Amino acid sequence: MLSIVSSNLKKSKLSGLNIPKRFLEVFVHDKEGNKHAIEFEEGDTLFEAVENAGHSFIPGSCNGGIACGECVVFVPEGQMENVSELEEDEKDCMEATGTTHPSARLACGLILDEDSEGIEFKLK
Ligand code: FES
Repeated sequence: MLSIVSSNLKKSKLSGLNIPKRFLEVFVHDKEGNKHAIEFEEGDTLFEAVENAGHSFIPGSCNGGIACGECVVFVPEGQMENVSELEEDEKDCMEATGTTHPSARLACGLILDEDSEGIEFKLK
């Protein structure tokens, strides 16, 4: 039996079966240009993943509520298909706050999954 569990494997709390759960990782460049490795679970928004990692460098006065439009990140060229689709509430918030760049998304509207692993997002 394999007894070594890497640092990005953690026990699943939900299953009760002690099956190692794999955490995935993306990267976020903050406004100062620092690159942060961010672990996430599938279904986390990018905003949640950054906060769960103990960081607060993504602005967001609505605290992830898709209302303030402050948490804008840019998705690298060719990676838009590897993040969740733009939903109506996110689109409306971006339009209301004047965010029109085709690579822009709201970190609190962008849901991560295994296809998102390794993407390097940049803060606006
Ligand atoms: S945190 Fe306010 S819109 Fe994302």
